[in-house]
Amino acid sequence: MGAGNLPLLFLTRRIPEPGPTLLRGSFTVCGGDEDRDLTGADLLDGVRGAAAVLCTLRERIDAAVLDAAGSSLRVVSNYAVGYDNIDVAAATERGILVTNTPGVLTDATADLTWALILAAARRVVEGDRMVRSGAFQGWAPTMLLGADVAGATLGIVGMGQIGRAVARRAAGFSMPVVYTRRSGPLKLEETPAGVEWRYCSDLDDLLREADIISVHVPLTEGTRHLLGARELALVRPGVVLVNTARGPVVHEEALVEALRAGPLGAAGLDVYEDEPAIHPGLVGLENVVLLPHLGSATHAARGRMAELAARNAIAALSGKRVPHPVNPEVLS
Ligand code: GLV
Ligand code: GLV
Repeated sequence: MGAGNLPLLFLTRRIPEPGPTLLRGSFTVCGGDEDRDLTGADLLDGVRGAAAVLCTLRERIDAAVLDAAGSSLRVVSNYAVGYDNIDVAAATERGILVTNTPGVLTDATADLTWALILAAARRVVEGDRMVRSGAFQGWAPTMLLGADVAGATLGIVGMGQIGRAVARRAAGFSMPVVYTRRSGPLKLEETPAGVEWRYCSDLDDLLREADIISVHVPLTEGTRHLLGARELALVRPGVVLVNTARGPVVHEEALVEALRAGPLGAAGLDVYEDEPAIHPGLVGLENVVLLPHLGSATHAARGRMAELAARNAIAALSGKRVPHPVNPEVLS
Protein backbone atom coordinates (compact mmCIF):
# COMPACT_ATOMS: atom_id res chain seq x y z
CA MET A 1 0.00 0.00 0.00
CA GLY A 2 1.12 3.53 -0.68
CA ALA A 3 0.30 6.67 1.25
CA GLY A 4 -3.34 7.21 2.22
CA ASN A 5 -3.95 3.48 1.77
CA LEU A 6 -4.10 3.75 -2.01
CA PRO A 7 -2.34 0.87 -3.75
CA LEU A 8 1.03 1.59 -5.31
CA LEU A 9 1.33 1.93 -9.10
CA PHE A 10 4.66 2.16 -10.86
CA LEU A 11 4.49 4.23 -14.06
CA THR A 12 7.55 3.46 -16.17
CA ARG A 13 7.66 6.77 -18.03
CA ARG A 14 5.64 9.92 -18.62
CA ILE A 15 2.32 9.40 -20.43
CA PRO A 16 -0.16 12.08 -21.57
CA GLU A 17 -3.22 13.27 -19.71
CA PRO A 18 -5.77 12.18 -18.70
CA GLY A 19 -3.66 9.14 -17.71
CA PRO A 20 -1.76 10.58 -14.73
CA THR A 21 -4.79 12.40 -13.28
CA LEU A 22 -6.99 9.30 -13.49
CA LEU A 23 -4.28 7.16 -11.93
CA ARG A 24 -3.74 9.54 -9.02
CA GLY A 25 -7.44 9.15 -8.12
CA SER A 26 -6.97 5.44 -7.41
CA PHE A 27 -3.28 4.88 -6.78
CA THR A 28 -0.21 6.25 -5.13
CA VAL A 29 1.73 6.78 -8.34
CA CYS A 30 5.49 6.52 -8.41
CA GLY A 31 7.60 7.13 -11.50
CA GLY A 32 6.32 8.68 -14.71
CA ASP A 33 8.09 11.99 -14.28
CA GLU A 34 10.48 11.55 -17.17
CA ASP A 35 10.06 10.67 -20.81
CA ARG A 36 13.05 8.42 -21.32
CA ASP A 37 13.98 4.75 -21.27
CA LEU A 38 14.53 3.15 -17.89
CA THR A 39 17.65 1.13 -17.22
CA GLY A 40 17.05 -2.52 -16.34
CA ALA A 41 18.06 -1.79 -12.74
CA ASP A 42 15.64 1.15 -12.50
CA LEU A 43 12.84 -1.08 -13.74
CA LEU A 44 13.58 -3.85 -11.21
CA ASP A 45 13.82 -1.25 -8.49
CA GLY A 46 10.71 0.67 -9.56
CA VAL A 47 8.31 -2.27 -9.62
CA ARG A 48 9.23 -3.47 -6.11
CA GLY A 49 6.11 -3.70 -3.96
CA ALA A 50 3.80 -2.29 -6.65
CA ALA A 51 0.23 -3.53 -7.01
CA ALA A 52 0.11 -2.25 -10.59
CA VAL A 53 2.66 -1.46 -13.27
CA LEU A 54 1.78 0.78 -16.20
CA CYS A 55 4.44 0.25 -18.86
CA THR A 56 5.18 0.97 -22.50
CA LEU A 57 6.53 -1.20 -25.29
CA ARG A 58 10.02 0.07 -24.42
CA GLU A 59 10.08 -2.00 -21.23
CA ARG A 60 10.51 -5.75 -21.33
CA ILE A 61 8.33 -7.22 -18.57
CA ASP A 62 9.67 -10.74 -18.04
CA ALA A 63 9.60 -13.23 -15.18
CA ALA A 64 12.49 -11.46 -13.45
CA VAL A 65 10.60 -8.15 -13.41
CA LEU A 66 7.40 -9.83 -12.21
CA ASP A 67 9.33 -11.55 -9.42
CA ALA A 68 11.07 -8.30 -8.48
CA ALA A 69 7.64 -6.73 -8.01
CA GLY A 70 6.71 -9.47 -5.57
CA SER A 71 3.38 -10.93 -4.48
CA SER A 72 1.64 -7.53 -4.32
CA LEU A 73 1.54 -7.25 -8.13
CA ARG A 74 -1.94 -7.72 -9.59
CA VAL A 75 -1.89 -6.03 -13.01
CA VAL A 76 0.51 -4.99 -15.77
CA SER A 77 -1.21 -2.39 -17.93
CA ASN A 78 0.55 -1.95 -21.27
CA TYR A 79 0.35 1.46 -22.93
CA ALA A 80 0.15 -0.19 -26.39
CA VAL A 81 -2.00 -2.60 -28.34
CA GLY A 82 0.94 -4.95 -29.04
CA TYR A 83 2.15 -6.78 -25.93
CA ASP A 84 5.11 -8.78 -27.21
CA ASN A 85 7.19 -6.86 -24.63
CA ILE A 86 5.41 -8.78 -21.86
CA ASP A 87 5.88 -12.43 -20.95
CA VAL A 88 2.14 -13.09 -20.70
CA ALA A 89 2.59 -16.79 -19.83
CA ALA A 90 4.80 -15.84 -16.87
CA ALA A 91 2.21 -13.27 -15.74
CA THR A 92 -0.64 -15.79 -16.04
CA GLU A 93 1.33 -18.37 -14.02
CA ARG A 94 1.65 -15.81 -11.24
CA GLY A 95 -2.03 -14.79 -11.42
CA ILE A 96 -1.14 -11.32 -12.74
CA LEU A 97 -3.52 -9.68 -15.19
CA VAL A 98 -2.08 -8.12 -18.38
CA THR A 99 -4.06 -5.47 -20.25
CA ASN A 100 -3.58 -3.53 -23.52
CA THR A 101 -5.10 -0.62 -25.47
CA PRO A 102 -6.74 -1.87 -28.70
CA GLY A 103 -9.28 0.14 -30.69
CA VAL A 104 -8.30 3.67 -29.65
CA LEU A 105 -5.25 3.73 -31.95
CA THR A 106 -6.72 1.81 -34.89
CA ASP A 107 -7.47 4.80 -37.13
CA ALA A 108 -4.25 6.62 -36.28
CA THR A 109 -2.21 3.55 -37.20
CA ALA A 110 -4.22 2.92 -40.37
CA ASP A 111 -3.70 6.55 -41.42
CA LEU A 112 0.05 6.26 -40.90
CA THR A 113 0.07 3.01 -42.88
CA TRP A 114 -1.42 4.91 -45.77
CA ALA A 115 1.15 7.67 -45.38
CA LEU A 116 3.81 4.99 -45.86
CA ILE A 117 2.00 3.28 -48.75
CA LEU A 118 1.73 6.56 -50.63
CA ALA A 119 5.19 7.81 -49.68
CA ALA A 120 6.91 4.58 -50.72
CA ALA A 121 4.92 4.07 -53.93
CA ARG A 122 5.25 7.68 -55.09
CA ARG A 123 8.77 8.37 -53.83
CA VAL A 124 7.63 11.27 -51.68
CA VAL A 125 10.64 11.33 -49.38
CA GLU A 126 13.15 10.90 -52.21
CA GLY A 127 11.48 13.86 -53.89
CA ASP A 128 11.75 15.94 -50.74
CA ARG A 129 15.44 15.06 -50.47
CA MET A 130 15.95 16.06 -54.10
CA VAL A 131 14.33 19.45 -53.63
CA ARG A 132 16.23 20.19 -50.42
CA SER A 133 19.56 19.19 -51.95
CA GLY A 134 19.10 21.65 -54.81
CA ALA A 135 19.04 18.84 -57.41
CA PHE A 136 15.55 19.73 -58.72
CA GLN A 137 16.10 21.23 -62.18
CA GLY A 138 12.43 21.34 -63.22
CA TRP A 139 9.75 18.88 -64.30
CA ALA A 140 10.95 15.98 -66.43
CA PRO A 141 9.05 13.17 -68.18
CA THR A 142 10.95 10.33 -66.51
CA MET A 143 11.96 11.84 -63.17
CA LEU A 144 11.23 9.84 -59.97
CA LEU A 145 8.56 7.64 -61.49
CA GLY A 146 6.75 5.47 -58.99
CA ALA A 147 4.04 2.81 -58.82
CA ASP A 148 0.30 3.31 -59.30
CA VAL A 149 -1.65 3.08 -56.06
CA ALA A 150 -5.21 3.49 -57.39
CA GLY A 151 -6.37 0.19 -58.82
CA ALA A 152 -3.45 -1.82 -57.43
CA THR A 153 -4.20 -4.94 -55.41
CA LEU A 154 -3.67 -4.42 -51.68
CA GLY A 155 -2.51 -7.42 -49.65
CA ILE A 156 -3.28 -7.24 -45.92
CA VAL A 157 -1.27 -9.71 -43.87
CA GLY A 158 -3.34 -10.03 -40.70
CA MET A 159 -6.91 -8.75 -41.00
CA GLY A 160 -7.47 -7.63 -37.41
CA GLN A 161 -8.81 -4.24 -36.35
CA ILE A 162 -5.95 -2.26 -37.88
CA GLY A 163 -5.79 -4.41 -41.03
CA ARG A 164 -9.48 -3.79 -41.58
CA ALA A 165 -9.14 -0.04 -41.08
CA VAL A 166 -6.35 0.00 -43.69
CA ALA A 167 -8.48 -2.11 -46.05
CA ARG A 168 -11.51 0.20 -45.65
CA ARG A 169 -9.42 3.15 -46.80
CA ALA A 170 -8.46 1.19 -49.94
CA ALA A 171 -12.01 1.61 -51.25
CA GLY A 172 -11.19 5.26 -51.88
CA PHE A 173 -8.39 4.13 -54.19
CA SER A 174 -10.53 1.52 -56.00
CA MET A 175 -8.22 -1.21 -54.80
CA PRO A 176 -9.20 -4.86 -54.54
CA VAL A 177 -8.03 -6.33 -51.23
CA VAL A 178 -6.62 -9.79 -50.59
CA TYR A 179 -6.00 -10.79 -46.99
CA THR A 180 -4.85 -13.47 -44.60
CA ARG A 181 -6.44 -13.91 -41.17
CA ARG A 182 -5.53 -16.39 -38.46
CA SER A 183 -9.15 -17.10 -37.60
CA GLY A 184 -10.29 -17.60 -41.20
CA PRO A 185 -12.33 -15.44 -43.59
CA LEU A 186 -14.36 -12.51 -42.31
CA LYS A 187 -18.11 -12.99 -42.24
CA LEU A 188 -19.99 -11.39 -45.10
CA GLU A 189 -21.50 -8.75 -42.81
CA GLU A 190 -17.98 -7.75 -41.70
CA THR A 191 -16.94 -6.81 -45.22
CA PRO A 192 -18.09 -3.57 -46.85
CA ALA A 193 -20.55 -3.80 -49.72
CA GLY A 194 -19.42 -3.08 -53.26
CA VAL A 195 -15.67 -3.68 -52.81
CA GLU A 196 -13.63 -6.82 -53.31
CA TRP A 197 -12.09 -8.30 -50.16
CA ARG A 198 -10.82 -11.82 -50.83
CA TYR A 199 -9.49 -14.19 -48.17
CA CYS A 200 -6.27 -16.13 -48.85
CA SER A 201 -5.85 -19.27 -46.76
CA ASP A 202 -2.21 -19.36 -47.85
CA LEU A 203 0.10 -16.38 -47.33
CA ASP A 204 2.05 -17.42 -50.44
CA ASP A 205 -1.03 -16.75 -52.60
CA LEU A 206 -1.35 -13.24 -51.18
CA LEU A 207 2.34 -12.59 -51.78
CA ARG A 208 2.03 -13.67 -55.41
CA GLU A 209 -1.05 -11.51 -56.08
CA ALA A 210 -0.61 -8.23 -54.26
CA ASP A 211 0.96 -5.04 -55.66
CA ILE A 212 1.12 -3.43 -52.24
CA ILE A 213 1.57 -5.54 -49.11
CA SER A 214 0.88 -4.26 -45.60
CA VAL A 215 1.71 -6.21 -42.44
CA HIS A 216 -0.70 -6.12 -39.46
CA VAL A 217 -0.09 -9.29 -37.44
CA PRO A 218 0.99 -9.14 -33.79
CA LEU A 219 4.51 -10.38 -33.01
CA THR A 220 4.38 -13.92 -31.60
CA GLU A 221 6.64 -16.94 -31.93
CA GLY A 222 4.38 -17.93 -34.84
CA THR A 223 4.84 -14.65 -36.74
CA ARG A 224 8.54 -13.94 -36.10
CA HIS A 225 10.18 -13.78 -39.57
CA LEU A 226 6.83 -14.54 -41.20
CA LEU A 227 8.25 -12.69 -44.21
CA GLY A 228 11.74 -14.07 -44.83
CA ALA A 229 13.90 -14.61 -47.91
CA ARG A 230 11.65 -17.36 -49.29
CA GLU A 231 8.47 -15.30 -48.93
CA LEU A 232 10.01 -12.09 -50.27
CA ALA A 233 11.16 -13.99 -53.36
CA LEU A 234 7.53 -14.83 -54.21
CA VAL A 235 6.29 -11.24 -54.67
CA ARG A 236 5.70 -9.52 -57.98
CA PRO A 237 8.49 -7.31 -59.28
CA GLY A 238 8.14 -3.76 -58.02
CA VAL A 239 5.91 -4.56 -55.06
CA VAL A 240 5.65 -2.05 -52.20
CA LEU A 241 5.91 -3.55 -48.70
CA VAL A 242 4.76 -1.61 -45.62
CA ASN A 243 5.24 -2.64 -41.99
CA THR A 244 3.56 -0.71 -39.19
CA ALA A 245 3.15 -3.81 -36.97
CA ARG A 246 6.35 -5.14 -35.38
CA GLY A 247 9.82 -5.26 -36.94
CA PRO A 248 10.69 -8.92 -36.28
CA VAL A 249 7.70 -10.06 -38.39
CA VAL A 250 9.90 -9.24 -41.39
CA HIS A 251 13.41 -10.67 -41.69
CA GLU A 252 15.28 -7.38 -42.02
CA GLU A 253 18.39 -8.79 -43.69
CA ALA A 254 16.23 -10.51 -46.33
CA LEU A 255 14.26 -7.29 -46.75
CA VAL A 256 17.42 -5.29 -47.45
CA GLU A 257 18.45 -7.86 -50.05
CA ALA A 258 15.00 -7.88 -51.71
CA LEU A 259 15.02 -4.07 -51.88
CA ARG A 260 18.55 -3.98 -53.24
CA ALA A 261 18.33 -6.77 -55.82
CA GLY A 262 14.55 -7.15 -56.27
CA PRO A 263 11.83 -8.20 -56.49
CA LEU A 264 10.68 -5.53 -54.02
CA GLY A 265 10.27 -2.07 -55.53
CA ALA A 266 10.05 -0.06 -52.32
CA ALA A 267 9.25 -0.34 -48.64
CA GLY A 268 7.78 1.86 -45.92
CA LEU A 269 8.80 0.94 -42.39
CA ASP A 270 7.62 2.24 -39.04
CA VAL A 271 9.12 -0.61 -37.01
CA TYR A 272 12.44 -2.49 -36.97
CA GLU A 273 13.82 -5.83 -35.94
CA ASP A 274 16.08 -4.47 -33.24
CA GLU A 275 14.45 -1.13 -32.50
CA PRO A 276 15.74 1.57 -32.22
CA ALA A 277 18.77 0.17 -34.09
CA ILE A 278 18.28 0.32 -37.86
CA HIS A 279 19.91 -2.17 -40.21
CA PRO A 280 22.76 -0.25 -41.88
CA GLY A 281 21.65 -1.66 -45.24
CA LEU A 282 18.28 0.10 -44.93
CA VAL A 283 19.77 3.51 -44.25
CA GLY A 284 21.82 3.29 -47.45
CA LEU A 285 18.84 2.55 -49.71
CA GLU A 286 16.81 5.24 -51.53
CA ASN A 287 13.74 3.03 -52.05
CA VAL A 288 12.72 2.77 -48.43
CA VAL A 289 10.91 5.28 -46.21
CA LEU A 290 11.95 5.03 -42.56
CA LEU A 291 9.76 6.32 -39.73
CA PRO A 292 10.53 6.21 -35.98
CA HIS A 293 7.57 4.04 -34.78
CA LEU A 294 4.87 6.69 -35.15
CA GLY A 295 1.81 4.47 -35.78
CA SER A 296 -0.29 5.75 -32.89
CA ALA A 297 1.47 9.12 -32.58
CA THR A 298 -1.41 11.59 -32.75
CA HIS A 299 -2.30 13.83 -29.82
CA ALA A 300 -5.79 12.33 -29.58
CA ALA A 301 -4.79 8.67 -29.96
CA ARG A 302 -2.04 8.90 -27.35
CA GLY A 303 -4.47 10.60 -24.96
CA ARG A 304 -7.06 7.85 -25.50
CA MET A 305 -4.37 5.20 -24.94
CA ALA A 306 -3.41 6.88 -21.66
CA GLU A 307 -7.04 6.94 -20.53
CA LEU A 308 -7.62 3.30 -21.46
CA ALA A 309 -4.37 2.10 -19.88
CA ALA A 310 -5.33 3.94 -16.68
CA ARG A 311 -8.89 2.54 -16.72
CA ASN A 312 -7.54 -0.99 -17.24
CA ALA A 313 -5.29 -0.65 -14.19
CA ILE A 314 -7.98 0.97 -12.02
CA ALA A 315 -10.63 -1.61 -12.93
CA ALA A 316 -8.25 -4.50 -12.27
CA LEU A 317 -7.73 -3.42 -8.66
CA SER A 318 -11.29 -2.37 -7.90
CA GLY A 319 -12.95 -5.57 -9.11
CA LYS A 320 -14.81 -3.73 -11.89
CA ARG A 321 -15.04 -5.08 -15.45
CA VAL A 322 -11.61 -4.64 -17.01
CA PRO A 323 -11.94 -3.01 -20.46
CA HIS A 324 -9.17 -4.94 -22.24
CA PRO A 325 -7.68 -7.95 -20.48
CA VAL A 326 -5.10 -9.93 -22.47
CA ASN A 327 -5.21 -12.99 -20.19
CA PRO A 328 -8.79 -12.89 -18.82
CA GLU A 329 -8.38 -16.42 -17.44
CA VAL A 330 -6.56 -14.80 -14.51
CA LEU A 331 -9.81 -13.07 -13.49
CA SER A 332 -11.85 -16.25 -13.06
C1 GLV B 1 2.40 0.42 -30.79
O1 GLV B 1 3.25 -0.08 -31.49
C2 GLV B 1 1.41 -0.33 -30.09
O2 GLV B 1 1.47 -1.57 -30.08
O3 GLV B 1 0.52 0.29 -29.49
C1 GLV C 1 1.35 -1.47 -59.00
O1 GLV C 1 1.33 -0.46 -58.32
C2 GLV C 1 0.33 -1.82 -59.97
O2 GLV C 1 -0.53 -0.98 -60.25
O3 GLV C 1 0.39 -2.96 -60.43
